[in-house]
Amino acid sequence: MLTRKNKPGLVLFASILLGIASMSALADSDTNMTLGDAKTGAKLAQKYCMKCHNNSVYTRKAKKVHSYEGLVGRVKACSQQTGVSFSRKQLQDVTEYLNHHFYDFQQ
Ligand code: HEC
Repeated sequence: MLTRKNKPGLVLFASILLGIASMSALADSDTNMTLGDAKTGAKLAQKYCMKCHNNSVYTRKAKKVHSYEGLVGRVKACSQQTGVSFSRKQLQDVTEYLNHHFYDFQQ
């Protein structure tokens, strides 16, 4: 059974996790590293995303995506239609590729 005694341990554990998370966030901005790898993303998009549309959907006049968050959501939703299960990293790579080459949103 959980007693009150266990609580400080849990809090400490949670703050260590938060510390690690914020440290890696800092490391990212320090080295100006992006979340995904656009090169890998390009290959993935080439392989899996051309089934229903080509790249012109990202540059059409009536674009549906207007923000980085919107792009993340759209990539996720579309990836579920490819029949392949994309990992978090792969989703980040594809998002990075699309943002870098077509959308250019601030993150
Ligand atoms: C099963 C078909 C299908 C597949 C596969 C697919 N898409 Fe799509 N996607 C669509 C359709 C349809 C639209 C247009 C929706 C609309 O106009 O509302 C679209 C639109 C988009 C848009 C929005 C473009 C804009 O700004 O208007 C993005 C981004 C996108 N897809 C990314 C991807 C990525 C990345 C993949 C591969 C992981 C992918 N799609 C695979 C069907 C697909």
